[in-house]
Amino acid sequence: MKIAVLKERRFDETRVAATPESVKKLIGLKHTVAIEAGAGVSAGIRDEDYTAAGATVGSAADVLNGADIVFKVRAPDAAELATYPKGAALLGLLDPYSAKAEAAAYAAAGVTAVAMEFVPRITRAQSMDVLSSQANLAGYRAVIEGSQLYGRALPMMMTAAGTVAAAKVFVMGAGVAGLQAIATARRLGGVVSATDVRPAAKEQVASLGAKFIAVEDEEFKAAETAAGYAKAMSPEYQAKQAELVAAHIAKQDIVVTTALIPGRPAPVLVTEAMVKSMRPGSVVVDLAVTQGGNCPASKPDSVVDVNGVKVIGFTNLPGRIAADASALYARNLLALLPLLTAENAAFGPKWDDEIVKAAVLTKDGQVVHPALTT
Ligand code: NAI
Repeated sequence: MKIAVLKERRFDETRVAATPESVKKLIGLKHTVAIEAGAGVSAGIRDEDYTAAGATVGSAADVLNGADIVFKVRAPDAAELATYPKGAALLGLLDPYSAKAEAAAYAAAGVTAVAMEFVPRITRAQSMDVLSSQANLAGYRAVIEGSQLYGRALPMMMTAAGTVAAAKVFVMGAGVAGLQAIATARRLGGVVSATDVRPAAKEQVASLGAKFIAVEDEEFKAAETAAGYAKAMSPEYQAKQAELVAAHIAKQDIVVTTALIPGRPAPVLVTEAMVKSMRPGSVVVDLAVTQGGNCPASKPDSVVDVNGVKVIGFTNLPGRIAADASALYARNLLALLPLLTAENAAFGPKWDDEIVKAAVLTKDGQVVHPALTT
């Protein structure tokens, strides 16, 4: 197969879908790789690094000419899509839950679109799980960004001039991003607590040395689902939980929110009144800002000041650690590729494979994914 790797067009996208490491492996699998000039610059990868790994580097038109698969981080806009060869496949973060119109456009362009977000969270697909790889780095970065805007130190410091107290960090939602946020805040010396609606998270939070904060009633105990995602909690539970955390948040210095139910608006966990209850200089980092936010005060790609409390709503935290995020993302694509490849290294998806079925949005000029056809 000829694999085309394009430079990202979105203004804030610094990641790239292939690295010299993944290029070498793709070539080892008998594919050819063509990289658009400058594609890796914002992730610290030079064109000559790709060339040294065995790729060709050229213009977008050269790269796309005869391509079987296009590797992207973000979905193409209409103008970019129009340049893709008919019959090519597209692998990327296609934001599939809100991509009905886009999916219709991929189908009309004859493009087989594969949404990496729809790769199921099953054991066999762990190495392809872009949500995990990117959320992990996002959780790390959230604490780094939060601690940078926090006007005090995270660790306790004992000096001749007196003691500086450790910062209190509260992480809401202890999934992939949340657990990494807990671990990072602990490494930086914060006093960390966390909450989640899944009972299983309690043990994971404790194992990282953080305190678990939750209303542990019957609904809480019944909430964990087999798929590993949280289910929607009742309004009653959310009210009780909000009451408990409201008192807790007032005493926190940095709050990191990562709570979501896939495909739904994010639950509101930190109200404006809770933000105002924090002391000036404190920070809220809302990872769920793209899905409406866990904190109504957050605004995409902004830092909002609420009575001296800074509310961070960065939508692309992995892009703020672009070299590592690109490396992990590129490995995720590499891991999925065999499921789209026939024996002679030609394009040949294993259509019946559950991972392929879950992630393919369009095929043969049709939108085929049930989430987009109903
Ligand atoms: P995940 O599904 O692994 O974790 C989410 C956690 O939130 C789960 O443990 C779930 O049980 C918990 N949760 C759900 N409702 C809750 C509630 N009402 N109260 C407390 N906990 C609740 O998801 P992951 O991968 O950790 O992602 C978390 C969030 O971070 C998502 O919103 C995702 O879109 C966002 N994200 C944001 C990035 C950014 O740059 N801003 C980058 C990557 C992810």
